[in-house]
Amino acid sequence: MDHSLIESLKRQAAERAAALVRSGMRLGLGTGSTAAHFVDCIGEKAKLGLDVICVPTSERTRLQAEGWNLRLSTLDETPELDLTVDGADEFDAQLRLIKGGGGALLREKIVAAASKRMVVITDASKEVARLGRFKLPVEVDRFGLNATRRHIEEAARACGCHGPIVLRKAEGDRDYLTDGGHPIFDCDFRAIPDPDALAVALNAIPGVVEHGLFIGMASAVIIADTAGVRVVGKLER
Ligand code: A5P
Repeated sequence: MDHSLIESLKRQAAERAAALVRSGMRLGLGTGSTAAHFVDCIGEKAKLGLDVICVPTSERTRLQAEGWNLRLSTLDETPELDLTVDGADEFDAQLRLIKGGGGALLREKIVAAASKRMVVITDASKEVARLGRFKLPVEVDRFGLNATRRHIEEAARACGCHGPIVLRKAEGDRDYLTDGGHPIFDCDFRAIPDPDALAVALNAIPGVVEHGLFIGMASAVIIADTAGVRVVGKLER
């Protein structure tokens, strides 16, 4: 699909989500190219008088929100949010997600967990029958990298997942580091037969800071495709 068409679909999904936002709300702002459209929508509405408090999920999103002069807060000052709107790398019919392609999974998950509702915005290309086509990001501590990788491999195998587990690289072949200063393993499983079991198994590994399976967190996914915008799940509480 042509790039400008994809961007216009992302914008449509973002606009639908922005229609949920009312003055006085405390918002979580996601990370990624789709979430960036949502930040723009909120910025435009704020210029017209919308008054919201925003907690960004990454430094990148913080900079964008600052560019719009949005009122920013932290989860320390504002520990409960009304709504988080974020993108996803994949989602299935049960609204289980893979996130973290942009490296912000840890803060994205903390912010989503602090929110009464998480709404995902996406184009239709992210919809899958079975999670795993997108490489699952696993954020880890720098200490003991290879030992942690072995544990991830064992846990994955026990859950029926096989495939290369590769340390993410940044430009110049340096290790990629998240906003929290952690490396990421990208797990090329192709298929994750039991995402719930894999999530539990990864959570139990010392050295795993967070993984990109978001299970039971999204209340709705807004999907834009050329036929229009549709919603899976419940937008309003
Ligand atoms: C960031 O870490 C990710 O979780 C993004 O939300 C996800 O990668 C979707 O990004 P795009 O909207 O750019 O596809």
